[in-house]
Amino acid sequence: MNPARKNLIRILQNAYSGEIAAAYAYRGHWKSLKDSPEKEHIKKIEAEEWDHRRRVGEWLEKLGATPRGGREKVFWTIGRTLGLTCHLSGWFMPMYFAGRLESQNSIEYEDAAVFAKELEMHDCVDDLLDMARVEVEHEVFFREMVAGHRLLPVMRKVFRWS
Ligand SMILES: [Fe+2]
Ligand SMILES: [Fe+2]
Repeated sequence: MNPARKNLIRILQNAYSGEIAAAYAYRGHWKSLKDSPEKEHIKKIEAEEWDHRRRVGEWLEKLGATPRGGREKVFWTIGRTLGLTCHLSGWFMPMYFAGRLESQNSIEYEDAAVFAKELEMHDCVDDLLDMARVEVEHEVFFREMVAGHRLLPVMRKVFRWS
């Protein structure tokens, strides 16, 4: 198989499963918050992750590929577990790690777009870059949430985000 096609499929399979983990983690996250504008915002982010998963799934189908079963199970479990831990871990940690994860998601879609471009799949490039843009929006939201928090300096040193 053409290496660009192989790479694109691999990234999309990873992203597809990553989105289910993100969506369930955000569902737990907003449910753990009391009524507030940030709760509503994270609800919206959850919906956007489901939308990404649908779009990535469509591209996989067009490429004649399928999601990887084992990875789906692992990421389903990760998402559900993170969703539950949001109820236990306090306000800051879910916000911080969400932001850190989002910073990786946008890079993943940008990387995928490079391979799609090599394959001259122009609609796919546009769609992937649009999803990368939304992931950056998510990152910015969480960055703003944690800004100025007393735990941020030490977390930044250890986990290298924000
Ligand atoms: Fe996403
Ligand atoms: Fe996201």
